[in-house]
Amino acid sequence: MSAQPTPDTIIQTGLGFWASKTLLSAIELGLFTELSQGSTNSDSIVACLGLHPRGARDFLDALVALGFLNRTGDQYSNTPETELFLDRNKPSYIGGILEMANHRLYPAWAHLSEALQAGEPQNEIKGGGPGLFETLYADHARLKEFLAAMTGISHGANQAIARAFPWTNHRTFVDVGTAQGDLATQIALANPHLRGFGFDLPEVAPIFEEYVAHAGIDDRLTFQSGDFFKHPIPQADVVLMGHILHDWDLPTKKMLIGKAFDAIPIGGALIVYEAIIDDDRSKNSFGLLMSLNMLIETRGGFDYTFADCTAWMMEAGFSETRAEPLVGPDSMVIGIK
Ligand SMILES: C[S@@+](CC[C@H](N)C(=O)[O-])C[C@H]1O[C@@H](n2cnc3c(N)ncnc32)[C@H](O)[C@@H]1O
Repeated sequence: MSAQPTPDTIIQTGLGFWASKTLLSAIELGLFTELSQGSTNSDSIVACLGLHPRGARDFLDALVALGFLNRTGDQYSNTPETELFLDRNKPSYIGGILEMANHRLYPAWAHLSEALQAGEPQNEIKGGGPGLFETLYADHARLKEFLAAMTGISHGANQAIARAFPWTNHRTFVDVGTAQGDLATQIALANPHLRGFGFDLPEVAPIFEEYVAHAGIDDRLTFQSGDFFKHPIPQADVVLMGHILHDWDLPTKKMLIGKAFDAIPIGGALIVYEAIIDDDRSKNSFGLLMSLNMLIETRGGFDYTFADCTAWMMEAGFSETRAEPLVGPDSMVIGIK
């Protein structure tokens, strides 16, 4: 006899924004950074964060129940995960993506139904005008927030790529759309024989250079300013594209894969990575939701399956391809020329 259906999943998902916004506000208010100084009681948290006492206890205990805080007696402390990933003062901080989610994506996603009906973005570029990057990069604070957000969402996969790919066979690489340069940084740190370029729009240069200098590898990593619509991709043994193809429509995706093919030698590789969707389009919910995020954020972008990416690479002339999982919902597709 089959079990009676229950509405639990429907209710949990339908009201999932309660949990999401509670975590995002905790990050915005600096709770995890504050608790990295040591465990403390609710009164001191109220005072430090400037909270009104009315909601404070529920806010903190909800975070305990959600698994983001520990509580012993009246003392609250970070969990190992929030201590490592959500203390703004640690290099392992990944909250950039969640700060941007709180500030930009949360309000834009309120218009998802409209996006589904109109097929149009619902963020700063809603209603026309320049594209996403021109619009974001016209404001220095938004530029910084966006680039730090990219590091936040990509850091785990960047470390995995730095270890998982057979880098010993290659000497140079170029990371296309490098943002702060975390992928290039992780690859260079793990592979001292490599030299690399971060290729991106000119506005990104100072932020890349600061990040790479901070990691102490500016002798092996160079920023190459350019626009991939106007310029070729710089020549290297390996071209990487993280969260690039999903920003654009199909003709642009194919154009970028073609430019990557032209940039590498025979035996060279193109590594494409993001939350690539399973071929049945039924399992990688994060990848499918990311594609809806591209509907909200861009004019033509969408995420895609392994089979899609493989077909585009073969069409561009790559002789073999393989897919490998990275971390969480992220995977890479490698094309060999
Ligand atoms: C979604 S972000 C991905 C960042 C990073 N690769 C990652 O995975 O975290 C897209 C990147 O592409 C860059 N970009 C956008 N348009 C570009 C263009 N026309 N030429 C070069 N880079 C561009 C952006 O500045 C941004 O750094």
